[in-house]
Formats: sequence, structure tokens, C-alpha cells
Amino acid sequence: MQRPKIGQLLLRRNTPSLLNVGYYKSYFWDGRAATLYDQVEEPLFALHEMHSSPERIHRTLSHHPTLGKLYALTRKQQVVTSEKDFTKKALAAHLWSIRSTDSYANHAIYTPSEQQGKKLFYGKAGCSSCHAGKALTDQQYHYTGLKKQAIVRQSNIVQGQETETFGHDHGRGDVVSGKQMLFAFRTPSLHNVSLTAPYMHDGSLKTLQEVIEFYDRGGDEKGHLPRLHLSQKEKQDLQAFLLLLLDPRYMTLPQKDLTHD
Ligand code: HEC
Repeated sequence: MQRPKIGQLLLRRNTPSLLNVGYYKSYFWDGRAATLYDQVEEPLFALHEMHSSPERIHRTLSHHPTLGKLYALTRKQQVVTSEKDFTKKALAAHLWSIRSTDSYANHAIYTPSEQQGKKLFYGKAGCSSCHAGKALTDQQYHYTGLKKQAIVRQSNIVQGQETETFGHDHGRGDVVSGKQMLFAFRTPSLHNVSLTAPYMHDGSLKTLQEVIEFYDRGGDEKGHLPRLHLSQKEKQDLQAFLLLLLDPRYMTLPQKDLTHD
């Protein structure tokens, strides 16, 4: 089969940010991988993503001046067991190091609007019941009442085979048995959220304003989250607080300086 160009095809879900992935306790929007090491395998080999193969990895390592040497060394030291193991460990280690958890919210002198927004986030608007803790995620799965959209393409690897199915995205419901987790997705972190539009697993909400409107009306499929009945002013305040969750260093410092909290 001809190799599709990377980035050419529409994948089934919104590409998540890689910032702070080291803090997650599971990976992918549906949490089907337990560790970064497990996670990297799928995009590495997926037909519509990197579409690599053991042969390609071998070729890369054989031709690359430093990676080849590093592989030989780590193999000798029994740190890695194969070229694939080396690649997965190296990628996972790099992803783990991409951190950016400082934010204006920790240092800024809040304007009255930002102050109100913070109060709403941790209070009346109920955001922190799911976007909780240092990473602003409870590491759990929820159905927020997002409108269920038919998916054009689902590519997934099940037992080494790439499959395509059509219909609604069942999210966590495809990973665990029973109906309880149908349409539930992993709570994403909100660090640097102003940089990571579009939002939600399907990218259907384009701006933070749309996200706030969505929560305010209690989602589109009713009965999952309560309506919030926020005033226009309160919505603006909440957005002002979300904008504060931005790490200014992320925009200005080289990657290597972001690897410490
Ligand atoms: C019941 C748990 C829960 C509550 C309460 C909740 N969220 Fe979420 N939030 C989630 C989940 C789960 C997702 C991902 C949903 C999806 O993609 O289907 C999400 C997604 C988001 C996103 C998109 C992030 C991204 O990277 O795509 C933003 C922004 C957000 N929530 C902000 C808020 C705000 C603001 C509030 C309060 C008004 C709030 N959330 C309340 C669980 C929750």
C-alpha cells in the first residue's frame, strides 16, 4: 500500500498537546495505554501516523551517527533489549521531559475578574471537580454531554491489525466492558489551554468561549452535567482565569530549560 503523507489524513480524534504528558496516568483520549512507553508504539507504527516498521527503525539506527552508537551502548549495558525497545524508551523519555506546569496563575497579581474566575472554577462552576490537582485533571473518564458525531474515519490498532470502523466514538467505552464508560473521555489537563485549540476529543469546540458556553448550558446531551446559569460577566471571568493558566516560559525558553518544575 502506498504510504500516505504524514498530516494529510484526518484522524479520528483531536491531536492532544504533549505538554506535561508525564503527569498522566493513562494515555490517549480513551486511556488505552497505561504508560508513555506503551503509548508511543501506536503512532510509531500506525498506518496514518508515522507508519514505521522494524525495518525502517533498523535503517534509521544504522545510518544515524549518534543514535546508532547510543543503541549499541545501551544494548550492551542491557538497558534496552531491541531496536524497537530502544526507540520506544527514547521517545517516552523525551515526552516525559516536556513539562510546563508553572503559570501566570502562580505569580500574577490577579485582576478582580481573574480572581472571580478562579472562585468560579473552584466553586460554583464545578470545574475543579474534574480538572483537579497539580495537573488539573482527576485522571478519570467522564462523558460531559458532548454532541455525538458520526466519525468519518477510525483507525485503530487491535492486536497488531489496523482496523477501520464507522459510527460514534465510544471513547473509554471501547476499552472497558459494560455501558458505564460509553462516550467517556479522559479529563485533559488545562495547563496552557489557551494555546491548544481546538478543544475536546473531537475538536468540535473552537474557542474557550465555546467551551464555557458548552458547560454553561450543561452540555448538549442533557442529564450528564448540570446547567450553570452563569452571567455574561461570570463567563468572562472564568475565561480570564483560564487564560492565566499559561506558562510564559513555554513560549520563550528552549525545551531543555522546561524539564524542571
Ligand atoms: C465531569 C467532569 C468535568 C467537569 C465538571 C468539567 N470538565 Fe472540562 N473536561 C472534562 C472531560 C472528560 C473533557 C474531555 C471531554 C471530551 O473530549 O469528550 C474536558 C474538556 C475540557 C476542555 C478542553 C481541553 C482540551 O484540551 O481539549 C476545557 C477547556 C475544559 N474541559 C474546561 C472546563 C471548565 C472551564 C469547566 C467548568 C466550567 C469544566 N471543564 C468542567 C471533564 C470535566
